[in-house]
Amino acid sequence: MILAMRTLRATGLMTLATVLGAAVAAPRFEDSMAQRLLACTACHGEQGRAGPDGYYPRLAGKPAGYLYHQLLNFRDGRRHYGLMTGMVDTLSDAYLMDIARHFAALELPYPPAAPATAPPALLRRGEVLARQGDAARGVPACTQCHGARLTGVAPDIPGLLGLPRDYLNAQLGAWQTGERRAHAPDCMAQIARRMDAADVSAVAAWLAAQPVPVPSGPTATMPAPPPGATRWRCGSAPAVQAAGERP
Ligand code: HEC
Ligand code: HEC
Repeated sequence: MILAMRTLRATGLMTLATVLGAAVAAPRFEDSMAQRLLACTACHGEQGRAGPDGYYPRLAGKPAGYLYHQLLNFRDGRRHYGLMTGMVDTLSDAYLMDIARHFAALELPYPPAAPATAPPALLRRGEVLARQGDAARGVPACTQCHGARLTGVAPDIPGLLGLPRDYLNAQLGAWQTGERRAHAPDCMAQIARRMDAADVSAVAAWLAAQPVPVPSGPTATMPAPPPGATRWRCGSAPAVQAAGERP
């Protein structure tokens, strides 16, 4: 554990020294998790509230299992972002879980949603996809797994609100091309590939324009699947399958 922390400091803070001057200059006397993770918040915003431009995602308050799986995904090559992979690829599973729990436990307010600039018809299509899906294309409602309020389901399913439109577009696009992968079976890859470019842009535009409800945290239990809904399996979220098997 101690070794892992030192490694994080050494590889993380030192190799990023030029870009992350502020983090390196920070005082070292306080040996808390927040202090050790200053190298992360230099990109992910203060306390992991998200960077300023929609490119660096928020970490604060996201479900711990979800964050943990993403750290594994970067470390093990299912997601790609060189500067981040370089920081996490020497860390143990246990330490990555500690990092995930630290950010998951932060309850911080969200900024107001960006005003919707997309045409009303596109936004309406986005809302239909999010709440009802598109049976003809085999696209399930996003609420079926991400929760009726779309704030996610603990511990493994992230919320879809409070994410910038560009980030949502990029993630769904990355699943379509295989650039982003989750643990198999990768339900999100299957869902994203059933959507065309117009649908991705519709659902991203609508989601990004919704206010984040208060409380903003993930709900504790999976919603029951709608009657007749297709059963899904998601490698990173066993509760999805369990909900589908409820009598
Ligand atoms: C140099 C900037 C940078 C640094 C430093 C950095 N990250 Fe990231 N991180 C990113 C970017 C950019 C993404 C989104 C990549 C993508 O689009 O898939 C990301 C994504 C993530 C995600 C996935 C979030 C989600 O909602 O799916 C997690 C978790 C994460 N980072 C944790 C960390 C932790 C923990 C650290 C410190 C050990 C860290 N990051 C350091 C830039 C950075
Ligand atoms: C069958 C369950 C299921 C359904 C239905 C579903 N998702 Fe997901 N989604 C997941 C899981 C599980 C994850 C976490 C994947 C991982 O561990 O990387 C996820 C993650 C995501 C992410 C990544 C969030 C982030 O912070 O990077 C986005 C974006 C997303 N889903 C969008 C959607 C949209 C849009 C819909 C509706 C069209 C949808 N999902 C429907 C299970 C589902």
